[in-house]
Amino acid sequence: MTAASDSGPPTKRTSSAAKGFHWLLATSVAFLLGAIAWATWQGSTSTPLIDANDARQPAKGRRVYAQYCASCHGANLEGQPAWRVRRADGRLPAPPHDASGHPWHHPNEVLIEIVSNGLQAGRYAPPGYSSDMPGFANILTEENVRASLAYIKSTWREAQRAHQSRVTLSAKQELRSSLGSFSIEQSTSDTPT
Ligand code: HEC
Repeated sequence: MTAASDSGPPTKRTSSAAKGFHWLLATSVAFLLGAIAWATWQGSTSTPLIDANDARQPAKGRRVYAQYCASCHGANLEGQPAWRVRRADGRLPAPPHDASGHPWHHPNEVLIEIVSNGLQAGRYAPPGYSSDMPGFANILTEENVRASLAYIKSTWREAQRAHQSRVTLSAKQELRSSLGSFSIEQSTSDTPT
């Protein structure tokens, strides 16, 4: 705009070019805002939070755990005896969920999926796998599934919690980049000079 006033009164040609430029800028900005809103929405809804530091979640989860999980995973999250040894039927006993277990290697989505639908063969277990881990989707609300996991997470060491949070974040970022992104660089390189 300053360029137009510096070089005398704007001709019809430059003003329509300027209009085109404004239109392009406006649509780019609108698109960008939409993309940001969408990514934020994705982040907040597609990855439900398992928060061990929340004031309520772990306390609620402790009750859920005692009622629905402790019979197999142990009152103190210690798992069943000899949990690494397959039984005669080929299935594994319930593993521990305290700091000696390994759920802290999994992102939130995977943990929620396992507790909701069990260890389904071909999904988070090899094809043909059979397991005693039941799915709780018809028994617990998703909020209670998350709460039970928040309680479990609250028993891990700080380094394990931090690791699990990082794994969850990078799983989320992978999802976003696989969906493609619209960057500021792209929008500015498109503008006329
Ligand atoms: C009937 C027994 C039983 C009950 C009840 C049960 N589980 Fe499990 N769970 C298992 C078994 C057995 C496995 C391991 C299965 C395998 O590896 O084949 C398992 C595995 C898991 C895993 C994956 C562990 C890992 O380290 O990857 C999670 C997470 C889990 N259970 C959470 C829960 C939660 C939370 C509850 C309660 C809401 C629950 N389980 C209730 C038997 C049970």
